[in-house]
Amino acid sequence: MKIGLVGTGMLGNAVGLNLLKSGFPLTVFNRTKEKTKELEKNGATVVSTPKEVAENSEIVIIIVKDADAVRQVSFETNGIIHGKINDLIVCDMSTINPLKSKEISNKFSEFKISMLDTPVMGGPKVAISGDLVLMVAGKKEVFDKSKKLFDCIAHKTFYLGKNGTAHAVKLAMNLQITMLALAISEGITLARGSEIDPKIFLDILNSTYFKTGMSENKGYKMIQDKFEATFTLKNLKKDIQTISETAHSHGLELPLMEKALQVYQNAEKDGFGNLDYTGILAYIKKINENNRSLDSSD
Ligand SMILES: NC(=O)c1ccc[n+]([C@@H]2O[C@H](COP(=O)([O-])OP(=O)(O)OC[C@H]3O[C@@H](n4cnc5c(N)ncnc54)[C@H](OP(=O)(O)O)[C@@H]3O)[C@@H](O)[C@H]2O)c1
Repeated sequence: MKIGLVGTGMLGNAVGLNLLKSGFPLTVFNRTKEKTKELEKNGATVVSTPKEVAENSEIVIIIVKDADAVRQVSFETNGIIHGKINDLIVCDMSTINPLKSKEISNKFSEFKISMLDTPVMGGPKVAISGDLVLMVAGKKEVFDKSKKLFDCIAHKTFYLGKNGTAHAVKLAMNLQITMLALAISEGITLARGSEIDPKIFLDILNSTYFKTGMSENKGYKMIQDKFEATFTLKNLKKDIQTISETAHSHGLELPLMEKALQVYQNAEKDGFGNLDYTGILAYIKKINENNRSLDSSD
């Protein structure tokens, strides 16, 4: 099965490395060519357009920033639709608005291309070992045809039904990530403010029912100010914005996500966007230091 990959950022690069290791022939494109070097070294064929990726593939995986980027690589000059399209399957692994994803899959079907939404949970580290959790939506027969690929990418795959539903569930997942990152950050901040070693806070939390993978793993990096990105703060902000837009389009109010959006927007404006999303702790630390210095100058 010949696979194509459009987008070799942090997640795309890791998914690509796993596919190569598993023996899939892989053709890749990235807007910034530099980011295809590691895949090329590991056996991928690097091409200059998404069109060429489609020409050389049976299934093309898109992993780019947002819905606008998905539209660009799909439909604009030298986009996927201009490549070979007979029986082509496109899997969109980017995290995007489910309503926009439905529009994109409808547009692909005008060109007789089947699109599945295939968002994932898990970062680059688990992507390299094929241990992502995959959510898939779109035509069942297309899902069945692609199952061998999905079994390589993920240790668990959930088929959810019609296009857009996988992205909808993915947003509900990223809502959890947002709340957990903020909860741990504010817990650490409160512990530090009370002159308690934040490691004690984490050790106690992780001895309880309320522990999470995040508190057990990322938490200890956070208290050492280690925020090397596996998923950037600015990309989580993008997802919080998408969660908010999606809620509004369903007439729903998610009060804590609106607050989270403000906090993450401010953190990005303040220059924290390229840190890991858990770097929200560093932003909360900064605003408290600013508040303290204002208090002491009164
Ligand atoms: N990292 C994770 O843990 C993770 C987990 C699940 C889902 N995701 C989702 O996966 C997607 C990629 O995330 P990432 O972490 O790999 O982000 P990233 O490292 O920032 O990579 C973003 C990718 O999108 C491309 N891109 C952005 N705008 C584009 C445009 N207008 N046209 C063409 N390409 C464009 C970038 O190309 P350039 O290199 O040229 O900028 C790059 O390949 C996002 O939707 C993210 O929410 C990420």
